[in-house]
Amino acid sequence: MTRLSVNINKIATLRNARGGDIPNVLTAAIDCQHFGAQGITVHPRPDERHIKYNDVRDIRPVITTEFNIEGYPSESFMDLVFEVKPHQVTLVPDPPDAITSNAGWDTKTNKDFLTKVIKRFKDAGIRTSIFIDANTELIKHAKDTGTDRVELYTEPYAIGYASNPGKAVDPFVKAAEAARQIGLGLNAGHDLSLDNLNFFIASIPWIEEVSIGHALISDALYYGLENTIQMYLRKLNIA
Ligand code: PXP
Repeated sequence: MTRLSVNINKIATLRNARGGDIPNVLTAAIDCQHFGAQGITVHPRPDERHIKYNDVRDIRPVITTEFNIEGYPSESFMDLVFEVKPHQVTLVPDPPDAITSNAGWDTKTNKDFLTKVIKRFKDAGIRTSIFIDANTELIKHAKDTGTDRVELYTEPYAIGYASNPGKAVDPFVKAAEAARQIGLGLNAGHDLSLDNLNFFIASIPWIEEVSIGHALISDALYYGLENTIQMYLRKLNIA
């Protein structure tokens, strides 16, 4: 069964709009878990405009599910991850000012860098995942870095889904099969939604985890957080 990790960055973005503590991100993390989320994801960016480094520290003790920290592996990001010791770290290649992650790693060009970084995380007992495009070659290069998993960058699927779901998912199925063949674990995320999630998971049922933020938190405005999480879980429960 594919696990749902809720990315709570948008809750922090809303809070930061007023500078106070409403909505409270700690309460949101606790409630997401209580409502059925099987993981919590945070993505601290260098300018702390969403989740702040101190939020990550504060959230750690309340996590009863799986804690996934995403980010570009700068020294300050790595120090935070070593201090907080999440279950998983997901490495993204974002430049510091990126609005959101909009490309996967070039695992060929960055192989040496990623290999060194991943070794440090693995020595600390933290599972690693690399954000990656649906590209079989890059997935093979990812395997050489020693990473445990890759996270498929699903925005192109989400865009293509509207006009032709089968065509949109096809490169992801091929990439996912390549990952499975060489023994890489598989996550997915970016722009997954109530509309497009079920078809994606039905096409690649061996995905271990999806991390979903923007659409899920937006849906919660209409359906409430508890209902929304249950709706996403039903989309994942395709048995
Ligand atoms: N995975 C990664 C690596 C991301 O950077 C993001 C966005 O922060 C997501 C998943 C979640 O994407 P979305 O907010 O579109 O659900």
